[in-house]
Amino acid sequence: MAAPTNQAAWLTKADNPLQVGEAPLPIAGPGEIVVKNAAVAINPLDTHMQDVGVFVQQWPAIFGCDVAGEVSEVGPDVQRFKKGDRVIGHAINLVTGRPQDGAFALYTAVPADKAAVLPDTISFTDGVVVPFAVEAAVCALSLKVPGEALPGISTPALGLPYPSLKDPVPSLSKTLVIYGGSSSVGSMTTQLATAAGIHVICVVGKHNFDFSKRCGAAEVFDHKDPSVVSKVIEAVGKSGHEFVGIFDAIATPDTYAHDLAILAKLGGGHLACVHPPPSDVPANVKAGMLFAVNDIATPVWKDYVTPALQAGKLQCLPPPTIVGKGLEYIQEGLKKSKAGVSATKLVIEL
Ligand SMILES: NC(=O)c1ccc[n+]([C@@H]2O[C@H](COP(=O)([O-])OP(=O)(O)OC[C@H]3O[C@@H](n4cnc5c(N)ncnc54)[C@H](OP(=O)(O)O)[C@@H]3O)[C@@H](O)[C@H]2O)c1
Repeated sequence: MAAPTNQAAWLTKADNPLQVGEAPLPIAGPGEIVVKNAAVAINPLDTHMQDVGVFVQQWPAIFGCDVAGEVSEVGPDVQRFKKGDRVIGHAINLVTGRPQDGAFALYTAVPADKAAVLPDTISFTDGVVVPFAVEAAVCALSLKVPGEALPGISTPALGLPYPSLKDPVPSLSKTLVIYGGSSSVGSMTTQLATAAGIHVICVVGKHNFDFSKRCGAAEVFDHKDPSVVSKVIEAVGKSGHEFVGIFDAIATPDTYAHDLAILAKLGGGHLACVHPPPSDVPANVKAGMLFAVNDIATPVWKDYVTPALQAGKLQCLPPPTIVGKGLEYIQEGLKKSKAGVSATKLVIEL
């Protein structure tokens, strides 16, 4: 049988279209697997990487975070996977800078600790919506001690427990507000927080109320409702639980204004953001920006993702929108992502 060959969608310089061309075949080092990708997903971060080269350490670059496919090679010390396993994985070119760690290729090296077996009943196209969002959600919820997200900006440290496979999960008597509960990261954080026994109140577009409830939100409020702030404050009070704070999965000046108004009325709390938080937060607000690559997620990858997918406790949401089949469609996916999506994840099948 001929040796496999690799191709990738390369970024040769910032603000240029991706170019599909040959690429070296990744090699699985210690703690790694190589995945023959059947589907990859687009994240807003990818569009920033293409536009300005943020996080690119080596040119030309292969980036992208989400893969689903079959294990084609297993690193020397990896026990959890074998060749041929169907998996989903979080590719971390973002931190390593190595082209072989980027998702936008036919083959990608993935840390075994950031991968999980995908149950046979779930397609690669559905499964690929999960990886980056899962890691982001764990980083938003479960860090106990703040680390560094970017120079001078600390991560949040909400210290909340990991999701549980128990059904029903016992209540923790804590309430968390998630702003942007219909986004990929917001909806996954809703799923994991709910599975940890947390009462989640989501702020989403009205058209996504049902979607957010499907992810576990106990209550939902429309981000365009002029009374959204007072309605959220009232709902937190009525929940009768300890108020943890807000996870802002949108993180714009408008959402920050709402966050700070809610926190001011509720006596402060955590403000975990997907971008740098406002600089002028009051002393009773613990603000941070998540950085979605962290070993804190390893137990969730190892012990939760596969059985939770199997049990239907972890759902492949938001559902995928297939942009096309082939590496050539990644550029179109990036363009579509920039135009904005609502409660869906853009996926390219390979
Ligand atoms: N720091 C990190 O490590 C990290 C990791 C992952 C992502 N991010 C960042 O997090 C952000 C979200 O990423 P994503 O992939 O989750 O995004 P996404 O799925 O593309 O977000 C789209 C969703 O955002 C919602 N939305 C937009 N404006 C809103 C508002 N004002 N209020 C409430 N919802 C609003 C829309 O909801 P409706 O249709 O319901 O209005 C839509 O469903 C991006 O900026 C990304 O770069 C950061």
